[in-house]
Amino acid sequence: MTVIISGKTHVYAVIGDPIEHSLSPVIQNAAFNALNINCVYTAFRVKNTDVANALKGMQSLGVLGLNVTMPHKEAVIAHLDWVDEAAKFLKSVNTIHNKDGKLLGYSTDGTGALKALKENGANPYGKKVLILGAGGAARAITYSLIQEANELVVLNRTVSEAKMLSEALKCKFGKKISTGSLSPKIIKEKINDADILLNATSVGMKPNTNQSLIPPNNLNPDLTVMDIVYNPCETQLIKDAKAIGARAINGLETLIYQGAAAFEIWTGQQAPVQTMREAILEQNIGV
Ligand code: ATR
Repeated sequence: MTVIISGKTHVYAVIGDPIEHSLSPVIQNAAFNALNINCVYTAFRVKNTDVANALKGMQSLGVLGLNVTMPHKEAVIAHLDWVDEAAKFLKSVNTIHNKDGKLLGYSTDGTGALKALKENGANPYGKKVLILGAGGAARAITYSLIQEANELVVLNRTVSEAKMLSEALKCKFGKKISTGSLSPKIIKEKINDADILLNATSVGMKPNTNQSLIPPNNLNPDLTVMDIVYNPCETQLIKDAKAIGARAINGLETLIYQGAAAFEIWTGQQAPVQTMREAILEQNIGV
């Protein structure tokens, strides 16, 4: 069903700069249409200097929800009435809900990745997870995983970033995670020990589609391999994992489930995940 836009239609959007390549309008409009909710989702390019104005505009125009992407995830926080625990810790908001005139901020980046694992048959509860990267995405994912996994290892090119993350998580949860560099020796050793390998770096993203941090002969069929890079949706790492028969979860899954979590915050309804997935696959963003 396609929503007919009328005077009663409510508006949602994603803000960022640049924004024109965002796939969020495709995912969210598919969900609104599938559930016949009279809402439309668009994209606004917002300059750094206009973040405060954009959020004031959200309130005065009655825009009900926003997703927030680079480079505004931190800057929006100062203009919100409330933020959730994860967003506070991460200093990063990717979802804003305009509820009764109050602006509420959430981070669904980590919960989206966690759900992507669970819904694809790889519940991390009690497992050992090896995370590559310690940037914004890796931090959000590690924050969610530490509450479920048994053991976490974070390897990053810049080891000091991984150590800072480890210290911050220790303060928050009293649980330790181990850290290290991306040296071939460490990678090999840590993969042998892990149940789940998760690439949360940008390595493998277009145009560097033949790059992977993991030599294929370090992988094994008992491993679950997840990549958060979705452009291309089959990264070199995902191809290598599939080739040896390991469970492989591509980056579109995290994108879909973080969008689904935002949709559920806004509407209180269960997101039609399969419809959202089909809508994105129709975009043919390249394998
Ligand atoms: P995002 O918000 O998407 O996570 P980010 O915060 O810039 O983006 O983080 C990018 C991550 O990819 C970082 O962990 C980065 O490693 P550094 O902390 O050492 O910069 C990692 N990364 C990017 N390019 C990389 C490369 N060529 N090799 C290894 N790691 C890389």
